[in-house]
Amino acid sequence: MGDARHVTSTKRVGILTAGGDSPGLNAAIRGFGKAAIGKHGMRILGFRDGFRGLAEDHRMRLDSATLAGILTVGGTILGTSRDKPHRMRVDGQVVDMTDEIVRTYERHDLDAVLCIGGGGTQKNALRLVQAGLNVITLPKTIDNDVAETDATIGFATALEIATEAIDRLHSTAHSHHRIIIAEVMGHQAGWLALGAGIASGADVVLIPEIPYDIGSVARAIKKRTRQGTNFSIVAIAEGARDQTGARLYEGLIARRVAAKGEKEKRSADAEIEAADDDHAGHAIRFARQLETLTGLESRVTILGYVQRGGTPSPIDRLLAARLGNAAADLVAEDRFGVMVASVGEDIRAVPLEKVAGQRKTVPVDHPWIDTARNVGTCLGD
Ligand code: F6P
Repeated sequence: MGDARHVTSTKRVGILTAGGDSPGLNAAIRGFGKAAIGKHGMRILGFRDGFRGLAEDHRMRLDSATLAGILTVGGTILGTSRDKPHRMRVDGQVVDMTDEIVRTYERHDLDAVLCIGGGGTQKNALRLVQAGLNVITLPKTIDNDVAETDATIGFATALEIATEAIDRLHSTAHSHHRIIIAEVMGHQAGWLALGAGIASGADVVLIPEIPYDIGSVARAIKKRTRQGTNFSIVAIAEGARDQTGARLYEGLIARRVAAKGEKEKRSADAEIEAADDDHAGHAIRFARQLETLTGLESRVTILGYVQRGGTPSPIDRLLAARLGNAAADLVAEDRFGVMVASVGEDIRAVPLEKVAGQRKTVPVDHPWIDTARNVGTCLGD
């Protein structure tokens, strides 16, 4: 209350959504916007397509009218991109646009920016804090891999979609006596594959946190055949790797972490990118090998972007509304440089320094892992 400017003047807040889209982004924009405008009397400005909108001052009007009717709508009305403030492609060149972003912030006399996004967004938001801006973030991603929060906006909906898809694959796998491999998104974390795998009763669940041995997967499937069940469902996370592949990939990551200087970092990044490209289509290669090892016909369904689309579930709407509301209160209190996290029943403001650059993967002693093992799911190890 000591700052007279904030008592007497209307606060102006920019909002952007960055990274891959996810169900519940609009619910978060609405949750923040309604509280910011209705409860606190603030003005809000939407910036288009992530950090690019701030860099290029590409805006859209956000008021009570534009916020109406978006709660149930998938995607983001603001658009999104994976552009980074410090390395943005402009006219064919990669440029540091941080100063442009600061100028946009000053031009519109903003008091704060709300950045809604996943792990990459948290890092980029911290960069803007270091450039002197007042920033608050919300955690959003279907991967559920943002550090310091139990939940991320979009995960609950994606979990429902992936579970329903695997449920449907069960009946066709059963009818044709096949192995069906469902590739589930999640980047380098196994939350979505593990959650959907347990919920849908997949027979095998493979996640990045537990590198697999295809021999042990084949043995589990052959055991089912001996017991009279000649079909199986495998839920495989897109980031899952076999034991050799995981060792090689970890080596690349370690090289990147140890890299000194821009040149070494770029070269390590290029190697990781090449390894990621090679990994695409991994589920198809895995299916061929499994078919050879088990003698059962194997098919692959890549669930892909369907997991990110459409109406958010009630849990995501509720989470988005609560986090958005809390962010509006934080702006009103002039508390910046934090991510609004959901921890147990609480909503907490966590310093961005604790979140940026961290990834929340599935701990190997997590209760979901125990649950999967206890109901006889093969985890590939
Ligand atoms: O982070 C969400 C996510 O859907 C990941 O699960 C996936 O690896 C990635 O985004 C796909 O990214 P893009 O939208 O850039 O293809």
